[in-house]
Order: sequence, then structure tokens, then C-alpha cells
Amino acid sequence: MSVPVIIDCDPGHDDVFAIWLALGNPLIDVRAITTVSGNGLLKYTTHNARIALTVAGVDGIPIAAGAADPLHRPSRPATWIHGENALGGPELPEPTVPLDERGALQLITDTITGSDEQVVLVPTGPLTNIATFLTERPELVSRVKEIIWMGGSTGRGNVGAYPEFNAWADPEAADIVLRSGVPLTMVGLNITHQALITEEVIKRIADVGNRTSAFGVELLRYFCGTYNKVEGMPEGPLHDPITVAILIDRTVASIQRAHVDVETTGEHTAGATCVDLHNMLNRDANVDVAMELDVDRFWDLVIESITALA
Ligand code: RIB
Ligand code: CA
Repeated sequence: MSVPVIIDCDPGHDDVFAIWLALGNPLIDVRAITTVSGNGLLKYTTHNARIALTVAGVDGIPIAAGAADPLHRPSRPATWIHGENALGGPELPEPTVPLDERGALQLITDTITGSDEQVVLVPTGPLTNIATFLTERPELVSRVKEIIWMGGSTGRGNVGAYPEFNAWADPEAADIVLRSGVPLTMVGLNITHQALITEEVIKRIADVGNRTSAFGVELLRYFCGTYNKVEGMPEGPLHDPITVAILIDRTVASIQRAHVDVETTGEHTAGATCVDLHNMLNRDANVDVAMELDVDRFWDLVIESITALA
């Protein structure tokens, strides 16, 4: 029985792999893809989502553009990792997948109202679109089964000392989602840095030998190159697909319930997720925090999906 999913993303190298992991696995029914500014300006992230489906040879899934800017802050694209066009590395083909004219909020609304069963939201970028949906469509919130978000961290961040990029880009949106009461799984840097792109991983993906794998290897080479240059990590962490992997196989990551807040006012810490793993403040947990990754199982799922695509 496949699970209906909406992916909200800012492709972005690792977002593309999250999309591919979902498209290639029969347990996931991708009903819609929405885009948000984050890794790049909205025009780039939206174009790149269309390219991800074009390369994979998948059509018939609506893609709509969402927020060009965070709720209360300017867009600050992560060009230092993903490049100016948010998908640095390969020569980008012209997308053959159309852009849906509805916009993200309307597409999410229509997808959820049109579903006979609850829908899972999988955001892999800043939470601007998700927060907007939760705020503007309160009557539909009960029809969201859960949210599985790549963002935050139980430890250090990757933008300054503590903030992780997706939370840092729009802390106010993250705060809305954290307070929403919707079941939320947080896939933070603490687990995503276990999904390292080793030479063995790249070889396994290259050996798939199809168009998707060849394009994917070029993406990984560029991504690892900028991670090495910026963070001294030659084996870059493939963050976003872990969200989809958890939906496919819950055993792929251990989970710890905790109370999580996000800092929205700190001069040095805005966007930092405060994960109270030891319940020091004696509050009810609001988040399933992903902790330990079954690394082999994760990469097996990624490679199985890529194999199933064009
Ligand atoms: O901090 C990592 C996150 O920021 C990932 O989602 C990556 O794609 C960027 O959006
Ligand atoms: Ca992302």
C-alpha cells in the first residue's frame, strides 16, 4: 500500500536525490511537488525540480512554485554549496515537465482535498510553504498524516555555530510548524552527517549505468567539492533523502521523542533548534527526532530507486 506524499523542496543537489528516492520506490506515491526558495532563488529551485523529473523520465506529477522569500526575512540562497543556479555541476537539460500554474498553496490544498487518505508532507527546505499552508488552511490540517522534515540539528549547525540552513532560512516558519501539533519527525544534521557520500557510494551509483545515475554522479561530485571547500568535508552529507527513507522503512533511523523549540530572536542563534533530549525543562515532547542511521540500508534504498528510474 503506497503512501500519498507531497514533497516541498529547494533543489538543491540532495533535494534531487530525495525526489528520486521517492519516485523510484513503490511504497511512495508522490502526488505533488512544491518548491521554495532556499538553496537558490525560487526561479532556480523550481526549474531544478522540473529537471529532476525530466532526468528521471517521470511525468504526470504536478510541480508548483511556492514562496520566493521567507515569512519575515530576505531570501539568502546557499550558493556557497549549491552554486548560483542551485544545481551546480552538470550541464542542465531543458525540462520537459511543465510548471503547474496554481502555485504551491493551491496545489497542496487541492492535493490534500483530493486525497481519500491522509497525506504526508515531506519538506526538505525552509518551511515557508508548509507554515503558510498550516496557517491559511487550518481546516485541512487534520488531513495531514505527518510531516517529515530535513532541518535543524541536535548539535552544531552549518550556518554559523548552531543554526542549520533550513531552519536558519526561515526560523519563524519553523516555529509555526513546531507549534502546530502535526506529528513531526525532524531529520537534523546530527543524522544527515551519517549519510556521507564516499567513493564507494559514488561507484555504486555510477554502476547503475542509467541516465539518472550518470546525472546523479555529476551532482555528487560537485556537492562533495563545495562541501570540501566550505566545510572541509570531502565526503559530503546527503541530507534530504533520509526523510523519504524513513517513510519507506521506519527501521532505517532510530527515533527519540523530545521537546524542540527554534530560536527566532537570537542575534547569533536565530534558526538554532533547541532539542531538549534530556527533558531538562520537563515539557511534553513535540517531535520525533531522528538519531542513528542504518547507513547501508539507506544507500541500498537510494540505489534501488535510481535503478528504477530512466
Ligand atoms: O542544511 C542542509 C539543508 O539545507 C538541506 O536540505 C540542503 O538541501 C539545504 O536545503
Ligand atoms: Ca534541501
